[in-house]
Amino acid sequence: MRKDVLASFEAAKGFMPLDEGLALHAAATQAAVGLGLPLLEVGTYCGRSTLLLAEAAAAAGTVVVTVDHHRGSEEQQPGWEYHDPELVDPATGRMDTLPYFRRTLYAAGLEDHVIAVVGRSPQVAKVWRQPLGLVFIDGGHTDEHASGDYEGWSPLLAEGGLLVIHDVFPDPADGGQAPYRVYRRAMESGAFTEVSVTGSLRVLRRGSADSEAAGAGAARGAGSSLRVQGDGSGL
Ligand SMILES: C[S@@+](CC[C@H](N)C(=O)[O-])C[C@H]1O[C@@H](n2cnc3c(N)ncnc32)[C@H](O)[C@@H]1O
Repeated sequence: MRKDVLASFEAAKGFMPLDEGLALHAAATQAAVGLGLPLLEVGTYCGRSTLLLAEAAAAAGTVVVTVDHHRGSEEQQPGWEYHDPELVDPATGRMDTLPYFRRTLYAAGLEDHVIAVVGRSPQVAKVWRQPLGLVFIDGGHTDEHASGDYEGWSPLLAEGGLLVIHDVFPDPADGGQAPYRVYRRAMESGAFTEVSVTGSLRVLRRGSADSEAAGAGAARGAGSSLRVQGDGSGL
């Protein structure tokens, strides 16, 4: 990775530590070079992780699509642990990370490699139909949002594509459990195999339709409500 991109990553507001960032960049490079398909991020925030995806996409001649409503997650609202008062728009009194994101991307010279979509992840997923080489889930951390992101975007992953989930904490003492439940669900679907674990970042690879059907069948047998993915419905 270029040194100036690394410096921009470290200077940007955000929550991802360096070791996880390097693992995300490595996964993005693998997916971008191997499949040549767009990389999708849910949870742009101020662009810290987007930079790493963009650097990998640029080197492989593809793009990043990053989705965020830019109003912040639950835990980023006033009075909550991860609130940053600097990110409140004085005109509306609401969080607005979009201007910070744009500055981050501009400073790193990566604007041309990113398509920023301002919207709610499930709504965007419903209208998105292009196959993806990587899906990075780092949006809302409630069960409703994390599972909505998984259901909306993972069916669009191409075979061999990578599903990356942030903030996976098996021990509740370390953090919220919604991303961990999504990770468990992905593994139990039979559609994914684990590629790497770095801190709270998990990288999974999507297998063939055969492995998926076998996994879904086993899960149904065990009484799970998992959906069979890749049926073209987008869910
Ligand atoms: C943890 S932050 C993302 C951090 C970023 N990936 C980084 O590493 O710097 C989560 C982001 O997800 C966004 N978000 C939460 N729920 C969302 C939803 N349903 N649709 C779109 N964006 C959402 C929030 O606005 C927030 O900016």
